[in-house]
Amino acid sequence: MQISNLKHGGNVFANAKRLNLLPSEIIDASASLVPFDPPQILIDSLNEEIKNLGFRYYPERNLSDIREIIGKFHGIDPDNVLPGNGASELITWAGYEASKFGISCLPSPCFVDYERSLNCWKSNFTHCELPKNWNNIFPQSFPLQPKGDVIWITNPHNPTGQLWSKNSLEACIKKYKLVICDEAFLSITPNGDKESLIPLTKEYDNLLVLRSLTKIFNIPGLRLGYVIGSSIKLKQWEIIRDPWPLNSFAIKAGIDLLSNKQFYKEWTGKIHSWINIERKRVFEKLSKIETLKVHNSSTNFFLIESNKSLSPNIKYLEKKGILLRECTSFRFLDEKWVRISLQSRKNNNLLCKEIQNSFKK
Ligand SMILES: Cc1ncc(COP(=O)(O)O)c(C=O)c1O
Repeated sequence: MQISNLKHGGNVFANAKRLNLLPSEIIDASASLVPFDPPQILIDSLNEEIKNLGFRYYPERNLSDIREIIGKFHGIDPDNVLPGNGASELITWAGYEASKFGISCLPSPCFVDYERSLNCWKSNFTHCELPKNWNNIFPQSFPLQPKGDVIWITNPHNPTGQLWSKNSLEACIKKYKLVICDEAFLSITPNGDKESLIPLTKEYDNLLVLRSLTKIFNIPGLRLGYVIGSSIKLKQWEIIRDPWPLNSFAIKAGIDLLSNKQFYKEWTGKIHSWINIERKRVFEKLSKIETLKVHNSSTNFFLIESNKSLSPNIKYLEKKGILLRECTSFRFLDEKWVRISLQSRKNNNLLCKEIQNSFKK
């Protein structure tokens, strides 16, 4: 078993306590969320669940209503859909599936949770290094086909922000015994959904696609995600997973949020224009810092690289209540790298100003 430092971003409550601040006083650029208030549909949905005392009952074991809505949303048979307690729970089960086939390849640096999942099943894996430079034209061709049985793909990739082309990923599906494609950030990424592998799940039984509602609706505390893939595989997971992995609030919210396609289109449109505008502004501001290289990204987070350690800058920003994602826990990155997520216009101005100040010290 390989044990790495499996740190995540987004520890607002613990950091607020440590820094003696209120969570609301923190600008959390370490977790890649969307800076909008939750949609009214979500608030109404949760209020209705309280009013109807829906939580007084065990959720239906088969999760048939939410499966049907997700299936309809993607044009997929509900038997090929399995909702979970966030994509993270389903990453655990994807690891279980991977453990049946042999060695997993993790194109790295990558989301640290894949390692947790594979360790959980004592499954072998190797980290395969992704190139450290890429251009600003997205989607890009997936650059690796390392030796192994299973490949874990993240589209767009975390932490680099690269969007991979569907065509180049289809070549991987043909090569590996199992392909796990994590599309947690795809729907918030401008032009992202065109690269989704979900339609290919109808053709390939060795493909599992993971989705999360965390990022798009800013609901990390509700825990809601789903996987799409072979109904035979998903049935096997169901036999051994917890009997009620989703609570009634998450189920109700998922049904209401995904039932209304027009709302979804408008909501994602708002997110895409925020990303397009703010990414350009933040890139231009940070690119003025001579010792920094700002890496291209298709989405709402990106990497910066310096010629020396960025730890003093991270500490300086922390004192101002601004959290960045340090990168030492990512394989093949070190303290010269930091991941930053986009904020509201006002907070991006503050973030950039304080990053600039941190270099003047
Ligand atoms: C690539 C990726 N996949 C999955 C997740 C987890 O999503 P969820 O909140 O749905 O568990 C994250 C969270 O940061 C992520 O970065």
